This record gives sequence, structure tokens and C-alpha cells, in this order.
Amino acid sequence: MAPALATSPRPKSPFQKSDNLLFDPALIPAALQDSLPAGYVVRPLSRTDNQLRSNTSFLKTLEVLTTVGTISDEAFLARFQYLKDHSDQYYTIVIEDMNVPATLAGSATSSSPSLVTPGRGKIVAAGTVLVERKFIHELGMVGHIEDIAVSADQQGKKLGLRIIETLKAIGQQVGCYKVILDCSEKNVPFYEKCGFERKGVEMGWYV
Ligand code: ACO
Repeated sequence: MAPALATSPRPKSPFQKSDNLLFDPALIPAALQDSLPAGYVVRPLSRTDNQLRSNTSFLKTLEVLTTVGTISDEAFLARFQYLKDHSDQYYTIVIEDMNVPATLAGSATSSSPSLVTPGRGKIVAAGTVLVERKFIHELGMVGHIEDIAVSADQQGKKLGLRIIETLKAIGQQVGCYKVILDCSEKNVPFYEKCGFERKGVEMGWYV
């Protein structure tokens, strides 16, 4: 069997495992949480991240990547539920800036001061690692990094780097023997800074 990347003990998280979160937040290393700017948190995507408060939603963040289009609440929730039903395959994370004025924050509060309530701040970055289960390499697993986005006004603060480090750590913990991605030429220096190297050639076929 292909060697899985080394695993490390499950760390603590400021988030509780919850039906609203896409996957168990304990998969996110505490060290990565600590490496973020003050007031920023990294967490799994939440069922509540479709909120349409201006400029705070997950979907708005993705617009730095490409066209997102109009997605109804119902359609968002249906897609979220699909991912949740396959939560050992889809790991979508966001970075939330909790340094928002109280008047903009959501009404939900946490009963424990050590826990953070998702959706009270502003989502500023996002990314996904999709875990592919193969037959080759004795049923090996490969992580595919997709849809990395940092809001235009938040770029250059190492949030992109932290998103990638978190997705690599998740891939490692769930047993992937490698994590790969496709990107444009202009993003190659960024991914090299994140520890990736050029391998093969990306090809595409569009319907
Ligand atoms: N060229 C050269 N170096 C870069 C670039 C670049 N385009 N972007 C970042 N870096 C460097 C930074 O200078 C930094 O280097 P340092 O550690 O020496 O200071 C390091 O990479 C980390 O940079 P971050 O601050 O973490 O980068 P940022 O938070 O701005 O995120 C990202 C980078 C994700 C590319 C962001 O600019 C973005 O969202 N762009 C628009 C959407 C996009 O292109 N997403 C990637 C699509 S590919 C995919 O999804 C697999």
C-alpha cells in the first residue's frame, strides 16, 4: 500500500462538532488556528454560510475566482447537504474575520467563551480538498485542492498560505498519500511558497 503521510494527534478546536459544520473541526490543527491574524478563525464551511449580508458570504468570497452566479438559499442548502452526506470526501474550509462591528455580527452566540460561533464575522478566504479513493497504490487516497479564494482586500496577509496549509494537513490526517492541484502560470510562485512543485501538465475539456 502506498505510504500515507504521517498522522498527528487530533488537536483542539475553538469550534464544536455540529450538524451545521461540514466536517469535524478537530481535523484543523490548532497551530494553524494560532498562526492567523488576531480575530481570524479557520473552520469548516457551515450550513449558515449562505447568509446574504453584503460582502460577508462564502459565495461572495468565491467571486475572486470566477463567476458564481445566482444561487438560491434552497440550492445552497441542497448542495451543502450533498457535501455533508459525503463528508469524508469534501473538506471545504473558510477563514472568518471576527473583527466586525457588533451591529454587523449575527445574532447567534456561544454558551462557552472558549468556543466561537460560526457566521458572526466576515468570510475572507475559502478552499476545498476533495479526497479521491483510488484502486491503484493499494486503494490509495489522493487529495485534490480546489477553489482557493482570498477576498481582494485581504490578499497578501498569508491567508492563502494558511488555507493551503490547513487543506494539506486535513489531507494528511485523513490518509492521502499526496495532495495535488491545477493552477494558472501566474499562481505557480504562490503554490511553490506553499511547498508544491511542478508535476505533469494540466489538460482540460470543456462541454
Ligand atoms: N506571485 C508570486 N508570489 C505570490 C503570489 C503571486 N501571484 N501570490 C502570493 N505570493 C506569495 C506571497 O508574496 C507570500 O510570499 P512570502 O511568504 O515570501 O511573503 C506567499 O506567496 C503567501 O502569500 P499569501 O499572502 O498567503 O497569498 P494570498 O493570501 O494573497 O493568497 C491567492 C494567494 C490565493 C492566489 C489569492 O491571491 C487569490 O485568491 N487570488 C485570486 C483567486 C485565485 O487565483 N485562486 C487560486 C486558484 S488555483 C486553485 O484554486 C487550485
